[in-house]
Amino acid sequence: MAIEIVPTGAAVGAEIRGVNLARPLDDETFRAVERAYNEHGVVFFRGQSVTPDRLLAFTQRFGDLQFNTFGEKHGLPDWPGIVLISNVEAAGREIGVKRAGDRWHSDMCYTPKPPRGTILHAREVPVRDGLTLGDTCFAATHAAYDALPAAMKRRLAGLKAVFDFTGRKRAVPITQAQIEAFPPVVHPIVRTHPYTKRKCLYIMRDDCTGIVGLEDEEAQILIEALADHIVRPEFVYRHRWQPDDLLIWDNCTVQHKAIQDYRLPLRRLMHRTTFAAVTVPM
Ligand code: SIN
Repeated sequence: MAIEIVPTGAAVGAEIRGVNLARPLDDETFRAVERAYNEHGVVFFRGQSVTPDRLLAFTQRFGDLQFNTFGEKHGLPDWPGIVLISNVEAAGREIGVKRAGDRWHSDMCYTPKPPRGTILHAREVPVRDGLTLGDTCFAATHAAYDALPAAMKRRLAGLKAVFDFTGRKRAVPITQAQIEAFPPVVHPIVRTHPYTKRKCLYIMRDDCTGIVGLEDEEAQILIEALADHIVRPEFVYRHRWQPDDLLIWDNCTVQHKAIQDYRLPLRRLMHRTTFAAVTVPM
């Protein structure tokens, strides 16, 4: 069956049809998938029965596995490279990271080398009276940059923001060891995507605590204005999950946010992997 790329019609996102991820992809098919991923920022495949081993192998076609600190407690037993994102409890204990990503962010932006991308494989999706809940939203940072007025583009050229692990209000309390492992880092506010060469805005409300060279108040005003601009509705694709969806996002081209509109007994269970950038021109 021929591979087919069907754009969502939003500023980012495309469905890829005609690919079975239960088996290794030949090089030509993988290259077509990777091209679509670079171009669309978010790609998804419906109806994929993917074992943990296959998920890890597929992830590593894009880059080395990157471990997320929040996965330490919630790795899939026997597959520590896979993090469970879930509200499910077993024996009175949460089996996965609950309320993960409920604020707009780009994964691990608080590290010196943020990951290239992230994969979610939907194992269980909450449905109430036929309505699917627990969507994930993706905002197109390149479209947001392109839409900026020329004066703002000039102002941002060369500016760097401070990314602080302690800045985001998280559902999971952070530990002293994590704070010490992730001291603040700086990244350019305008990143050039390593593959598409498009300019992308890289700034977010909670993680960014300052801008190098600006007074705090001026920096906060600019951070908030840009963070709000990036997530304007015209730049957002909202993914409605189906069980066995496998979706990949690009952490430069998009920011994302998980919608927490479900509660037990409605269950949501995702397997997540993250892959590193081979080269990280920021
Ligand atoms: C995340 O931010 O990785 C979680 C996204 C989701 O569960 O939809």
